[in-house]
This record gives sequence, C-alpha cells and structure tokens, in this order.
Amino acid sequence: MAQVRFLVLGAAAGGGLPQWNCGCANCCAARDPASGLKPQTQSSLAVSPDGERWVVFNASPDIRAQIERNACLHPRAIRDSPIRSVVVTNGDIDHITGLLTLREKQPFALFATAALMETLGQNPVFQVLDPALVRQRTVGLDMPFSPLDGLEIRLFAVPGKVPLYLEGSDLKLGQETDDTVGVEFRIGDRRAYYIPGCGSMPATLAQRLEGADLVFFDGTVFEDDEMILAGVGQKTGRRMGHMPINGDGGSLAALSALSIGRKVYVHINNTNPIWRAGPERDQVEAQGFEVGHDGMEVTLAAHS
Ligand code: MLT
Ligand code: MN
Ligand code: ZN
Repeated sequence: MAQVRFLVLGAAAGGGLPQWNCGCANCCAARDPASGLKPQTQSSLAVSPDGERWVVFNASPDIRAQIERNACLHPRAIRDSPIRSVVVTNGDIDHITGLLTLREKQPFALFATAALMETLGQNPVFQVLDPALVRQRTVGLDMPFSPLDGLEIRLFAVPGKVPLYLEGSDLKLGQETDDTVGVEFRIGDRRAYYIPGCGSMPATLAQRLEGADLVFFDGTVFEDDEMILAGVGQKTGRRMGHMPINGDGGSLAALSALSIGRKVYVHINNTNPIWRAGPERDQVEAQGFEVGHDGMEVTLAAHS
C-alpha cells in the first residue's frame, strides 16, 4: 500500500528563528532554553515514499544542519546520500542557497520550472553543481512527474512574486507565474500540498485544495502589517508575496472554508506570534490548524 512520509526539515521562514540580527520577543525567547520555544531552521520539507530515498523540497541555507539532525538523511556508504532529488518552489534565498552546500560531487536531480532554472542559471555561483552529476530537469506547470520512483507530483503556479534580489520594475506581485509554485502530491486516492509561499487565495487554488488530505501552507505572518508593527521592516506580508494568516483575505478564513484533513503552517516568520502560547496560537489551533515545527512528521497512506 502506497504510503508517503512528509518530514518538516525547517518550519521557519527566511532568517530562521532566531534570526541572526533580530531581538524581537520570539527571537529572544528562542535564544533562551528556559522559554520552551525551540529554535527553528529555514523553510524545507523532505518527502519519501519508502523512508530510504528522499526528495528535498527547497534547499535552505540550514540544509547541512537539517541533514545532520535527521538520521534518515545520513549517508550509508563512503560517498552516499538518501537525498536523490531537490525541487525548488521559488527563487528566494531561503529556498535555493542550500544547493551550494550540496556541491560535493554527489549525484542528484534538480527539478524546477523554466523561470526558476533561468534564475539559477543566471547566477554563476550555482555552476558549482557539476552538471555531469547534478541532472537539471525543467518541469512544466501542471505536468505530472516523478522526482523519484514511487512519488508522483505536479507543480502549479500560485500568486507570488519574483525573488527579492530580482525585484526591478516588474515584481510580478500577485501574478500566477512559474516564479512561485505549489506542489501537489497524489498518493493513490489521497492528495497533499506543499505551498510555502502564497500571496492570496484565488478561486482556482481554493478549488484545487478542496478535499485535500494534508496541506502545508504559508504561515509567514499572522497579521499583514506585523513586521512594521514589530519595528523590523517596512513591508507588509502581502508586499513580500505572503498572504497573512488573520484578517480579511487571510489564510485562516480561506482554508477554513474548505474541507481539508490536516492543515499545517510552515514558512513561519520569526515575528509571528503563533510560535508561542497566546491568543493567536489559540485562534489558529481552535480552527484546526497545526503550527509546523522542525522534525514534525506526517505520514499519508493511500486507502487502497
Ligand atoms: C520570502 O519568503 O519573502 C523571502 O524568503 C524573503 C527573503 O528573500 O528574505
Ligand atoms: Mn521565504
Ligand atoms: Zn525576530
């Protein structure tokens, strides 16, 4: 019977928790072992159909620590890795720079859309991934493919924007292009989704998610203006391509309107109050959402 394991390698958004230069309440708590708030690494999900071979979705700057912390990702021979492929869902720093850590002459396959392959290709530093060993596979939107045998997925566009370092005259803010994608997993009769960045919930996306068994979703900010109020920046969540959890047009309302088995927030920014006990976390949990954390594992098995 088909069964797939989803392992959260990093539940935090870019910067992690704590972020190196941040003294916000959450970051201070994460530095204090007595607080009960454990540090969290940057955005990544590992998925396996057999517990032996893994696909990593988004290669975060913390990937080396994430591998060491999860024994299922350790080498089993003198040169080896259970990580057989990497899929990236956008070109943000927190999702691609871990590729540079995977450069040590190890074969794997890298899957990305044309726009994301172009972004990587334009940056010569990624040439450290030896093309003789790292097979680059450009995948079209809504085309089923197997990043490893036994796992069928497809990528689909979600409202997003170009990466921060490519922001020029055209941010493509809110556009559904192959710069920002979600991942759909089909496991027999069951469906799971991984959507770590999403600017809004168009009807087409809501229809897609309806009836899903498992959804890992963008939990970057609780309130749209949270980073401004915390004094850590000038941007709203939406300006960064992330719909807030709370409020009009937030993910709490949008996903609560759908029938979904398990809803797990990931890509959670260090300013987000859901990291700690309090009214915001209570609100999210009361509506049946889970707050993702490093090491969280969910198994989804086909009914037949
Ligand atoms: C984001 O998710 O908005 C980005 O990771 C921000 C960044 O690149 O720092
Ligand atoms: Mn990010
Ligand atoms: Zn902080």
